[in-house]
Amino acid sequence: MTKLRSRKWFDNPDNREMTALYLERYLNYGLTREELQGDKPIIAIAQTGSDLSPCNRHHLELEKRVRDGIIAAGGLPLQVPVHPIQETGKRPTASLDRNLAYLSLTETLYGYPLDGVVLMIGCDKTTPALLMAAATINIPAIALSVGPMLNGWFKGQRTGSGTIVWKAREMHAAGEIDDAGFMEIVASSTPSVGYCNTMGTATTMNSLAEALGMQLPGSAAIPAPYRQRGHISYQTGLRIVEMVREDLKPSDIMTREAFENAIVVNSAIGGSTNAPIHLNAIARHMGVPLDNDDWQRLGYHIPLLTNMQPAGEYLGEDYFHAGGVPAVIGQLLEAGLFPHPDAGTVNGKTMRENCGGLSSELPDVIKPVDAPMVAAAGFLNLKGNLFDSAIMKTSVISKEFRDRYLSNPDDPDAFEGRAIVFDGPEDFHVKIDDETLEIDENCILIMRGAGPIGYPGAAEVVNMRPPAYLLKKGIHALPCIGDGRQSGTSGSPSILNASPEAAAGGGLALVRTGDRLRIDLRKGTADMLVDEAELAERRRTLPSAPFTPESQTPWQEIFRERVEPLSKGMTLRGADAYRDVAGRGLPRDNH
Ligand code: FES
Ligand code: MG
Repeated sequence: MTKLRSRKWFDNPDNREMTALYLERYLNYGLTREELQGDKPIIAIAQTGSDLSPCNRHHLELEKRVRDGIIAAGGLPLQVPVHPIQETGKRPTASLDRNLAYLSLTETLYGYPLDGVVLMIGCDKTTPALLMAAATINIPAIALSVGPMLNGWFKGQRTGSGTIVWKAREMHAAGEIDDAGFMEIVASSTPSVGYCNTMGTATTMNSLAEALGMQLPGSAAIPAPYRQRGHISYQTGLRIVEMVREDLKPSDIMTREAFENAIVVNSAIGGSTNAPIHLNAIARHMGVPLDNDDWQRLGYHIPLLTNMQPAGEYLGEDYFHAGGVPAVIGQLLEAGLFPHPDAGTVNGKTMRENCGGLSSELPDVIKPVDAPMVAAAGFLNLKGNLFDSAIMKTSVISKEFRDRYLSNPDDPDAFEGRAIVFDGPEDFHVKIDDETLEIDENCILIMRGAGPIGYPGAAEVVNMRPPAYLLKKGIHALPCIGDGRQSGTSGSPSILNASPEAAAGGGLALVRTGDRLRIDLRKGTADMLVDEAELAERRRTLPSAPFTPESQTPWQEIFRERVEPLSKGMTLRGADAYRDVAGRGLPRDNH
């Protein structure tokens, strides 16, 4: 093994003064010179658990087992606190903070004496933020999920995180339950520590971290309170020390092949529409080209195997008992649908070695490839005069809609509807039940001003419920289009992440309530049926910074100045030029 990076702080014969200055403060909590100057790799535990982050808070417990593993393998663990990112608590949206946590962790891993890192992932944005930092810095890194909550139950039915909120709000709007009933149903979905127990963005991103090869096999699906969660935490601690000794880095694992594998797994698990944003971002920081055309080309034809809410019925514990990610990959391998079986992983073995021969233990939860939930279940990447790129999750399209507008490639039928435009969620809440808008089943709801610049941070506000008077008639969904995002726990067949956003002058800035829209899923197009001259006139009268309220914090302003569109991962312009930062040598001495 070459000299440890951390030893350049603590053991520099050419500069005794700085060595002493670095050493003395780390000695003061009981570490000895022998430990700091010997051959023990120093391992950062990038801790995302805190009182502000309930989804990841159990990591404070798991960290103890990770430390045990690191010490047992001859390493020295140091906790690194990560800027909190909690999906449902942070306003205006947690995704505003993903890049902030990324920047902060990158700087921390670079500027301190650290040889490797355990990425304590979980709640939605924590996973991409930490993987983005690992990609940029490129020191040995291994991810550890905190694990999903136990299944929620209400009156004998599984209640899943988030998904139950979208269902209960419809029941409430239709007058079927009162306020207390609403709270009772929603609270039932949160029975224990852990992240969302549905196939929302958390379970998706944790599964994809495993599909990328960045977690030990089987790690993603273990429920947070299960004993196996403690075991894998210990094993993760053991393994990161070996990875430092082997110099096994993110650039060895997160290759183009690994991202292609992850796209395929995302279709098979029915993953969140947030996945393309985050995976494209991680890939950019890794220097791997990846875009939304790749998602459609590689992922669309892959079958949906995992029967989990919101696309299906089961939850996290069932996913675990069915075999989790290794069972999904094992079945895809067997069917010849897994593109790169020889991709490497953090345990030093290939995907084929880790998952070959495995299959579902509960075939109703993870279905066989020849009897899937949906045959072609990936994302479509739609284009047109409304936007250059927007994602649609086809696995949640109703059977009737799919049969009519998608399944038969020779059918010329396309969906046409009247646009109802909302400028932000506040506008939506004021207007949605206004009967004078005459919203009916042939309308398309548009949410704009909800993108990275407009919100700022791109909020999950695009999935909009129909007006109460339609809900009472049994109409539970209308097509929605927006330049923001949608919760991964929502089963709405929305057209999301539209780029460029209205605030950047994208086509959504020009659309008006009453315009005819045409969505052709077979051709992959989405257009306003408004003539060019009229669109040019509307563009001429746009204000200079449309749909962009004033920044409220310094970070909002900095983020807005530098952010890339959702289709490019919402990364900070220029940040992806910094690659293999640890490989560029060390920062200068500080005194
Ligand atoms: Fe944190 Fe779902 S809100 S995991
Ligand atoms: Mg969310």
